[in-house]
Amino acid sequence: MTVKEEIEQLKKEKNAVILAHYYVPPEVQEIADYIGDSYYLSKTAVGLKQQTIVFCGVSFMGESAKILNPDKTVLMPDPCADCEMAHMADAETIRRMRERYDDLAVVCYINSTAELKRHSDVCVTSANAVDIVQALPSRNIFFIPDRNLARFVAEQAPEKNFIFNEGYCPVHEQISLAEAEKAKAEHPGAEVLAHPECPEALCRMSDYVGSTSGIIKYAGKSSAEEFIVCTESGVRYELEKRYPRKRFYFTQTEPVCRDMKLITLEKVLHVLKTGKNEMNVTGNVREEAKKPLERMLELAGAKQTAETKQTAGSARG
Ligand code: 13P
Ligand code: SF4
Repeated sequence: MTVKEEIEQLKKEKNAVILAHYYVPPEVQEIADYIGDSYYLSKTAVGLKQQTIVFCGVSFMGESAKILNPDKTVLMPDPCADCEMAHMADAETIRRMRERYDDLAVVCYINSTAELKRHSDVCVTSANAVDIVQALPSRNIFFIPDRNLARFVAEQAPEKNFIFNEGYCPVHEQISLAEAEKAKAEHPGAEVLAHPECPEALCRMSDYVGSTSGIIKYAGKSSAEEFIVCTESGVRYELEKRYPRKRFYFTQTEPVCRDMKLITLEKVLHVLKTGKNEMNVTGNVREEAKKPLERMLELAGAKQTAETKQTAGSARG
């Protein structure tokens, strides 16, 4: 039996479901039941009928799935797959901000530890941050940890007073403006698509800025046939699969999240076989971090059971 066949068999035997982010390697995306960006995966994790969730992504994703589904078993193929940005804020600064501003909402990008979430008022992802911030009654917004996403949201919510935090995604932060301009000079008809975790100058030169799923959807709707994609290169698999007639280019130094690439088929098989690497979030942290996550799902209108898996292939979003 191949590794893929073994995974399929064990999934049935163990009543398990596989969720994967678009940044994990293509062969892992291929065996997933649900593939999506952070928002899609967090809402999909709620209401799944299977007892075990194998989360092919980094730890904040598995942590959020566990917090939202405390009675389920969440298995992480590689428990070392972490997100550097998830740690780039601290509870003490949040406490000081709350003292300084009466009318403050602490808005926490889902790319953060449960420890940060528990001190926050609401979570957001890159797909819903603008809508959620606009819906909040508070005028003052302390946005953690990502300064780039914060700036992108602040521009679209000028009625709010933003307080920025100095976190960033090392993968998107390092996408070079010069390399993007070079790619544009080589493909003048191409549209530039960027993730809001990218630096300001790169977002400014882009034709579209949005979440990973937003980028994928935009590429489908646009009449352009070529695109320069400024986000993690794992997304190429889905783009080429969905739109085989379109062309997708990345910057010469391809943006690669090493943590996402730690997820392999062998590790998925290993956790399915052994039940090892179970995600645990204990007592108070779990209860407190659950509130901002649930508020996100409520405000984004997504508190619903996951869509039924399509009969052929995987569900995506
Ligand atoms: P989205 O999945 O919200 O596009 O975020 C990108 C990312 O960096 C995930 O770690
Ligand atoms: Fe974190 Fe950036 Fe990797 Fe996403 S791409 S997991 S934000 S380091």
